[in-house]
Order: sequence, then C-alpha cells, then structure tokens
Amino acid sequence: MSINGFDKDSFGLQLSEVVFPSRPIRSIQHLMGRDEELETIERALYQAGRHIFIFGDRGVGKSSLGATAAYQYQASGAEPIFVAGSVDDTFKSVIANIANQALGRSRLEATKRQENIGVEWRGLKWGSGVEISTIEVASQIQTVGDATELLKQVAERHSQKSIVVVDEFDAIGSVEERNKFASLLKQLGDQSVNLKFIFTGIGETLDELLGAHPSAFRQLETVQLFRLSWEGRREIVTSAAEAFGLSVDDNVSWRIAIVSDGFPYYVQLITEKMLWEAFADPVIVEQMGPQHYQLGLRKAIQSINAELKRPYERAVLHREQEFETVVWATADGEDLYRNLRDMHESYRVVFRKAEREGEPLPQTKFTEQVRKLKSKGFGEILQPVEKRPGWYTYKEKMLRGFVRMQAEANGIELSGEKEAPRQRMHVPGNARTGYRGSSIPKGVRVNVGRNEVPDD
Ligand SMILES: Nc1ncnc2c1ncn2[C@@H]1O[C@H](COP(=O)(O)OP(=O)(O)OP(=O)(O)O)[C@@H](O)[C@H]1O
Ligand SMILES: [Mg+2]
Repeated sequence: MSINGFDKDSFGLQLSEVVFPSRPIRSIQHLMGRDEELETIERALYQAGRHIFIFGDRGVGKSSLGATAAYQYQASGAEPIFVAGSVDDTFKSVIANIANQALGRSRLEATKRQENIGVEWRGLKWGSGVEISTIEVASQIQTVGDATELLKQVAERHSQKSIVVVDEFDAIGSVEERNKFASLLKQLGDQSVNLKFIFTGIGETLDELLGAHPSAFRQLETVQLFRLSWEGRREIVTSAAEAFGLSVDDNVSWRIAIVSDGFPYYVQLITEKMLWEAFADPVIVEQMGPQHYQLGLRKAIQSINAELKRPYERAVLHREQEFETVVWATADGEDLYRNLRDMHESYRVVFRKAEREGEPLPQTKFTEQVRKLKSKGFGEILQPVEKRPGWYTYKEKMLRGFVRMQAEANGIELSGEKEAPRQRMHVPGNARTGYRGSSIPKGVRVNVGRNEVPDD
C-alpha cells in the first residue's frame, strides 16, 4: 500500500498502539507534555501519608496522567487498582469496589504467586472461587474506621507498593460522601497503611470538588491540569507518524496544535484520521502534508461524539450563514476568557477571510449576537465571567476546540499565538527580602495558568 512496509492489518494494528483517541494513556512513552506534573506526583508519592488529587477541565487529560503515574508507582507483579466514581456511588460502595478489584478472583488467578492467599474479612472470603458482590462488601463497611481496616488488608495482600486510582471523583453525587475520603486519608496515615490514592475530578477549583472543606484534605498534593502545551500537542502528531516512518509537514503539525485548542483528544483523533488518509493515498507517502490533514480533519469532525458537538449545532443550525462567523470568532485566540471587544476584532478578521458579502456587523450588533449564545436555544455555549462585565468564556471548554476545527474545515484559520505561548518568569531570588521582586515588567503575568482571567 502507500505507506512503506504496511498492509491494512499491520497498519491498523500499529495505529491502535500509537494513537489513543478513545482511552486514557497509561505509559510515559505515550504521555506527552506532562513531565512536570509527573515529577510533582512522583515526588509527592515518596512522602508517607501523602496522596494526589488531579483536577481540571473536562478532557484535558486527567485520567491519562493519573493512570500513567499509577503505573509508574505500582510495584511490579500487580496492576494499579482502578475504580471510577458514578452518580449513585457512596463512600462505602467505592471502598467495596476497591477491595473487590484488589482481592477479587480474577486478580488472584492472574498472579500465580498469590494463588493460595485467600483474604478473609468479617466473614467475607475473597479468592475462594466465589465472587463477592460489591453490595455485600459495602454492607460490612459502617464507618471510616471499617474502611481503613479493610484497606489495610488490601494493602497487605495486593502488592508491595499499591496504588488506587479513583477516577471521576466529581461524579460521586453527594458532597458528604466525597468528604468522607478526607477522614479516610487521615486514618490511613495515622495507621501507616501503605496504600496510595490518586483522585481525578473535573473542576476549576478544588472547592468545587471537595465542598466547603478542602483544607480537611491536608494529605493531598493537588495538581491542577491545564490544556496541553504546544510541544506536547505536536509531539503526539510527530511521534505517531514516526512509528510509520513518516514525517509531518511542519505547518500541519502547527495547525493541529492550534485547532485542537490543547485538548489531547482532538489531537489524537485528527492524527488517527490523517494517518488513515496517508495510508489510503495512491502514491507512496513519506511526509504527511496538507491534503492528508484536510481530509483527516473532516473525518475527525464527523466522528466526534454527538453529545460534544450538539451545543454547536444548536447554535448554528437553521441560522443565517452570517451567524457561523460570529460563533467562530468567539473561539479565536488562545485565551479561554475573552471580552467583547477582542471577539469583535476576531470577528472582523474572520468575516474578511470568509469573503462574506456586505459589511461586517458593528460592535453593538455583534454584541447582541454573542449574547444570544448564552441562551438555551443557542446551546448555551458561552457564559459570562463573574464580576467582569463584557467577558465571556465557553461553558464547556472542550467545545471551543470543536468550534475551531469547524472554522478550519471551512477554510478559516483561527489564530492561537503559537510562538511564545508560555511566559515563564524566573524570579531572580531577591536575596534580601525573599519576596518576588516588584520589578516585573508591566503586562507580564507571573504564575498565571492559561486558564486564568487575564487582567484588563
Ligand atoms: N499527555 C497526553 N499525551 C497524549 N495524549 C493524551 C494526553 N493526555 C490525554 N491524552 C488523550 O486524550 C484523551 C483524553 O484524555 P483523558 O481521558 O485522560 O482526559 P480526562 O481529562 O480524563 O477527560 P474527562 O474529563 O472526559 O474524564 C484520551 O484519548 C487520551 O489518550
Ligand atoms: Mg477522565
């Protein structure tokens, strides 16, 4: 075929090992752009009694970071213990799940050395050839103390160094139930139970996830995860291509980095589709170029799940074509928080690029259109920023990436200031005061994650 050395089967198989649009990453080799976060986690885990909480917007890569860190930590001979929160989960049911995952039959059969060590706790026997239901286990857990006792067994039997990932912690409906984990972590520490936890959850702040008492979680190292760095985005593309002996047109990898808006899912998906297009190319391909990208981008848009794209469709379907340019303009630039003036500037550029007839809307008319995007009928794609009149942000940040892909597929290249995306200030230790100097030039923001509201 058209990629040297691959037929359809070998191509497809290889592809599933190098792009991951539909599942979290588990290995360092495939986790791009997260070295710093991994290091933070690794260091924190050395500290007895300390656990990890990874939080951030939907789709930024929380589960991937959590899983990869867990595999790094977990002693060989056993897998990390994975559980995921859901709406009707309670503290008990999560703990019961952990115990079943760790001690269940399949696990004991999988690891021969542990064959004979059935675990018994309060009349429940694991590893004796019978499955115990989560409900049965949960019914034995009355208090946080009970949970601690059970997890002690888990830690002793599972492996030398065991780690539990509680993914989607935010999904656990009740704050009260979530807060019980604070006492649990404390008790695990007090009793020197050798078991680590990594939690992940969607949220912009920790308070959202832990309720009013985030300080109760003193045992936590918190890692706020932002969108992927420019390097990370491009590395996903180039390393996948490399696995097939292909290079990538520089402009193409930048475009993918830009349209994805830093959401690794989009990068993975476009890369997957683009590689198939290269495979289908009638001539032998050595470099993936604009034509593969354009075709791949369209396929990627088609296959993005309906739930994610519905708000966009709500906003633009059955409206004048004009309206689409307004929506695209809202997704321009790199900042997640934007004011009406900036958006209008983007709009004028978009309007010109789209070669639409007539004159672009003036600011006032444009503002009226943008405001509509807050309403249900328009998919509620935007929401106002608190205490900042005239500022808006995407309600679902990930949707911004989808809008960018749509614009791109329609020939409108939105910008994302690609060259110097992150301004890192190395604060020259002001030896005398130990404080950050006040000499930071105006306009340079220190320690500002990209998600923060920029100053006016
Ligand atoms: N650092 C990374 N490098 C490469 N691919 C990544 C990275 N992080 C995440 N991905 C990919 O992006 C997709 C989304 O990642 P993941 O599921 O980890 O995000 P999430 O934040 O847990 O999402 P959700 O909020 O929906 O649970 C996955 O397909 C995953 O393989
Ligand atoms: Mg996740």
